[in-house]
Amino acid sequence: MKPKEIVNEELQGILLGISDIIETIDISKIRQIPRDETADEWCGEEFRKHIINKGTSHDGFPDMLLGTNLEYGKFCYDGENRVDIVQRMESHVTDLCTWSGAHRRALTAVYPPGGFISWHNNANAPGYNVLFTWSQEGDGQWEHVDPDTREHIVIPDKKGWQCKFGYYGTYQEPESLLYHCARTNCLRATVAFVFNADDRGKSMAEMLLEEIQTA
Ligand SMILES: [Fe+2]
Repeated sequence: MKPKEIVNEELQGILLGISDIIETIDISKIRQIPRDETADEWCGEEFRKHIINKGTSHDGFPDMLLGTNLEYGKFCYDGENRVDIVQRMESHVTDLCTWSGAHRRALTAVYPPGGFISWHNNANAPGYNVLFTWSQEGDGQWEHVDPDTREHIVIPDKKGWQCKFGYYGTYQEPESLLYHCARTNCLRATVAFVFNADDRGKSMAEMLLEEIQTA
C-alpha cells in the first residue's frame, strides 16, 4: 500500500461531506465488542505470524474488528441520529463510488478510540484497492507486510483524510498477498473501493490515482 496525496478539490469536497457526518457520531453510543480485546493482541506480531502461518486456511476476512460497519443494517450504534448518519453516509459514499469509477465498494467502517481491524489479507476479495482513511487527531496507523520485501511497514494516519492504494492478491498469486491491519487511539473511519483484478481494473485505478493527485 502506498500513500497518495489528495489534491483534487472536488474529491476534497466529497470527503469533507463524509467526515462532517462522521464527526456527528457519539463515540459512547458505538456498540462495542468486549473491551478486553486489544489492538496490541490482534494487530501484534504474534497474531500476524499466526495468520500468515495459517496459509490458505485463512479466509481473508479479519477475525476481529473493534469498530462498526457504517452500512445500513450493519451499523452497531445506539445514538438517536443513527438513521440520519446511515442515510447521509449511504448517499455520500455512493457519490464517491460514482466519482471514483470503482467497480465496487468495500468496507465502510468507523473505529472509536482503541479501535482496530485485525491482521488479514482480503484474499477473498482481490483487486486494486483505493482506501480513504479519515482520522480525527491523526493518532492511529495502518500496517502491512510488503509482498516483495516481507518487511513490516507502518503508515501513520494523519489528521483528516489520507488516501492509500495497493493491490490485494489471492492465494493463486501468493507473491501479491497483502497482509494488513489498522488501529487507532482516536475516532477513525475508512471508505474503501475496489477495481477488478485485471488489466482494465488496473488502468482504471491508475487513472483515478492521477485524478486524485491533480488539482
Ligand atoms: Fe482489509
